[in-house]
Amino acid sequence: MAADAPGLDFAFSEADYRPAAPPPEVVARYGIGLVGCGGIARGAHLPAYRRAGYRVTACCDVVEASARKAAADFGIPFWTSELDALLSRPDVDLVDLAVPAAERRPLVEAIARAGKPILSQKPFALSMDDARAMVEACARAGVPLMINQQARWAPAHRALRRVLDLGVLGHVYSVLHVLRSWQDEPGSWYVRMPDFNIVDHGIHFIDLSRFFTGLSPRRVKALTTRMPGQLAVTPMIYTIALEYPEGSEVMTTLHFNNIVRAAETHGSTWYADGTEGSAVLAGDLLSVARRDRPGEKRTLRLRGRWFPDAFGGSMGEMLTALAEGREPATSGWDNLASIRIAYAAVESAATGGAVDLG
Ligand SMILES: NC(=O)c1ccc[n+]([C@@H]2O[C@H](COP(=O)([O-])OP(=O)(O)OC[C@H]3O[C@@H](n4cnc5c(N)ncnc54)[C@H](O)[C@@H]3O)[C@@H](O)[C@H]2O)c1
Repeated sequence: MAADAPGLDFAFSEADYRPAAPPPEVVARYGIGLVGCGGIARGAHLPAYRRAGYRVTACCDVVEASARKAAADFGIPFWTSELDALLSRPDVDLVDLAVPAAERRPLVEAIARAGKPILSQKPFALSMDDARAMVEACARAGVPLMINQQARWAPAHRALRRVLDLGVLGHVYSVLHVLRSWQDEPGSWYVRMPDFNIVDHGIHFIDLSRFFTGLSPRRVKALTTRMPGQLAVTPMIYTIALEYPEGSEVMTTLHFNNIVRAAETHGSTWYADGTEGSAVLAGDLLSVARRDRPGEKRTLRLRGRWFPDAFGGSMGEMLTALAEGREPATSGWDNLASIRIAYAAVESAATGGAVDLG
């Protein structure tokens, strides 16, 4: 632990964990073209952008009615069902890509050819080969690419990260996530998607493990199981253990039961344990305790929510990175590391062995 690390009375305010919007001149400079006007775009992207004052200048969906509805509901001046019509517009400075992952690669390649920066929804790709090909296509075209791992901008996750950065816990040797939910939804696309729980939904928590530890693992071990009678084509329960390079003295365990019938027991909790103390993040409550203050626990009630606040944060990072001419935090290159962990977990669960990432 750093000698000047604070104790339990560490300074903490909302500004420490709620990402500030980019300056007005940055917001004014970039017109956003939305491609894919489905559930997440209308339910989270557009409400967050409206709140932040971002300029969405055009939207596109292969289903004309979806593009028209998004434009009408959110006051977007231009809508189309043709990607080229959106890409040729001078008022579209970047593309916010919110189509299903299976549709992603030809669109990323076309947008890169048109020279427009891309903020792509997760999961970025459904294979390592596709992920690398898209990252390389953008690099060849000189087009900035960011993956919308917006959980990193969720206020609660940033608050925990802030406590870790301050050194309040000392050396953190264990990070544990326990998530209980239910997505065995009849007729949904996710029950039909192979390995949905790990590569689609779970990618958030895999990516957060990198955000919290600042590390990528050298070895991945996963166990999965099915609930008798489940609809999903692959298991909806996983435990993933991540082992880091020698000397790191930390491990991460990610447990996600996404087929819990009793909704009353649903919830998400992160635990971080360090040599000086522990933090527990449960919903919007962040509790911190220290070994030098036995019997005490400081609990902070956090403001703001993942949906939709985090979506304003990730787009804010994209706009700021463009304005500053730097790579965004969750760039395509960065995301390859998270996707690699996800597919290593799938392989480990299938083979029963640990997967070495070198
Ligand atoms: N970040 C999150 O927490 C989060 C949450 C939900 C979904 N997602 C991701 O967002 C993406 C979209 O999910 P969704 O729930 O909005 O799906 P959706 O099916 O509701 O919407 C997708 C939209 O894309 C359109 N589309 C498909 N192909 C297209 C193409 N070639 N050109 C233009 N439009 C096209 C569809 O017509 C549809 O309107 C997926 O990758 C999903 O995994 C992320």
